[in-house]
Amino acid sequence: MREFTPEYLEHTRRGMWESTAALDPLELDSRARVLDVGCGTGELSRVLAAESPGDVIGVDADTALLGVAREATGLPTVAGDATRLPFRADAADLVVCQALLINLPDPTAAVREFARVSSDLVAAIEPDNAAVEVSSTVDAEERLEREVREAYLAGVETDVAMGERVGDLFEAAGLDVIARRTYHHEKLVEPPYSEPAMESAAKKASGAGIAEHERELRAAGADYDDLRAAWREMGRDVVRAMGEERYRRREVVPFEVTVGRV
Ligand SMILES: C[S@@+](CC[C@H](N)C(=O)[O-])C[C@H]1O[C@@H](n2cnc3c(N)ncnc32)[C@H](O)[C@@H]1O
Repeated sequence: MREFTPEYLEHTRRGMWESTAALDPLELDSRARVLDVGCGTGELSRVLAAESPGDVIGVDADTALLGVAREATGLPTVAGDATRLPFRADAADLVVCQALLINLPDPTAAVREFARVSSDLVAAIEPDNAAVEVSSTVDAEERLEREVREAYLAGVETDVAMGERVGDLFEAAGLDVIARRTYHHEKLVEPPYSEPAMESAAKKASGAGIAEHERELRAAGADYDDLRAAWREMGRDVVRAMGEERYRRREVVPFEVTVGRV
């Protein structure tokens, strides 16, 4: 199972659901019991709880992340595998996940399990990592990010660019797809820089960030050592430009929101 740090999840989800319009088809205002499967640190659970009068429960296979989610959201959590949920049939009227299916070797098995546990709606909010767009005032950043992303996509074992194919998984699990939305999560880095933005730049300069993907990059046949050296040099340029307050970066990650009825 791919592991995620609380810092990574908090950083990548910051500000994601400031506008919740794309979540309208989840009918949150009429839900009685919602399961957020693969909840991580509870970034989505918090939004679900704010938008729904019902109970929200976070479920994840990583008990350390569940501890962070409980502490951060005050919501109940349950340890469990997405493909064998520790809930009876029809235990919830919405089972939802965010950025979970792209990390599973058998995402269809998970969607089938969601359909078993939900009496009404199932929803997935999954990024299309092949369609991420980056622009930056540091010349090499855009090119290197594209190169690393393409190699990562070629070397990773799960379908991290599932995008619109989530609907096919729903249909394979016997769900009627009732809505699809694309939500663009825009992340801006500009002065004054936040603490997490500075930490992220430092991670580029040290090579710690790219090292997390070493296995996938090597599997894709990339020259990892060359790539890492170029990446670190780019990171040092980013840190320098931040020191002079002349660094700007914009990233847009498209998320497909798919909603099905059992
Ligand atoms: C990319 S994170 C997404 C976390 C959260 N949904 C969010 O969007 O911030 C994927 C999460 O799925 C969890 N996960 C991975 N495989 C799982 C499985 N088989 N069953 C339950 N959770 C799983 C990981 O522990 C991690 O918390």
